[in-house]
Amino acid sequence: DLYNLRQIGADTKVHGVIGNPIGHSKSPHLYNAAFKSVGFNGIYLPLLVDNVANYISTYSSPDFVGYSYTIPHKEDGLRCCDEVDPIAKEIGAISCMIRRPVDGKLIGYNVDYLGAIAAIEEALRATNGVPASSSPLAGKLFVVIGAGGAGKALAYGAYEKGARVIVANRTYGKAKELATKVGGQAITLDELKDFHPEERMILANTTSVGMKPRIDDTPLPKEALKHYSLVFDAIYTPKLTRLLREAQEAGTTIVYGTEMFINQAFVQFKRFTGLPAPKQLIRDVLA
Ligand code: ATR
Repeated sequence: DLYNLRQIGADTKVHGVIGNPIGHSKSPHLYNAAFKSVGFNGIYLPLLVDNVANYISTYSSPDFVGYSYTIPHKEDGLRCCDEVDPIAKEIGAISCMIRRPVDGKLIGYNVDYLGAIAAIEEALRATNGVPASSSPLAGKLFVVIGAGGAGKALAYGAYEKGARVIVANRTYGKAKELATKVGGQAITLDELKDFHPEERMILANTTSVGMKPRIDDTPLPKEALKHYSLVFDAIYTPKLTRLLREAQEAGTTIVYGTEMFINQAFVQFKRFTGLPAPKQLIRDVLA
């Protein structure tokens, strides 16, 4: 009942998610239900794509106005855009591509990090009552563990919100490179264990440490967690990682990795439709 074929006409905006495999993706169900709920004349298809460049040059007609990108095509997708948003370029990956109405060009963006940052901001506002007009991240010390794709994304996101960024990574050179780009500081994972400035910090783990099946691993020992006011873990299998469990035990606000996905869908929906996202519906589908 998600695709109402009689509704499809010349004005219908066609979207799709590009990935391989794609059968497991919740996005078609999510976006079709969301489009329908707000009366947006659009459809959203699962697109099993092997070669992105080939797909874009051969099959992407002007009727296709928006694409989401998923594993393993986030980097290939970037190379197939007519233009790339500067942050997506820095991250080296896109999460969506939107056809610009004026000239039909395909513009790549990365909104994954916006989802994580929005979820962290929302949790901080809920606990501190910061007004919606300013970011609760402004001026805060924001520690990012990891300097891969997700680490870069979180570091840029925090930097954009005015946070003072610290990058901690197993390979120090990569931490240094990323920290320099966001005007921040690089430290090793060992140094992070003993790093306690006066103020409480925000922590985002973007490494795979603690991911199923190695659920007993954690990127930062329990003793260090009392120095943080909020801990986010990009891992979502398991939902409650050892890091989050121990942070919770230390009385810290926690933000689950699943929130990053839910919030990124809010952002992407708005990019596709120009309309506010039906948040409860999206939450219900993704939860
Ligand atoms: P993603 O795109 O999901 O961020 P990635 O680019 O492969 O994935 O990056 C993985 C990150 O997790 C890196 O920062 C990596 O550290 P290195 O730069 O030293 O490789 C970090 N990482 C992965 N396994 C780790 C482990 N066992 N201990 C510490 N850090 C780890």
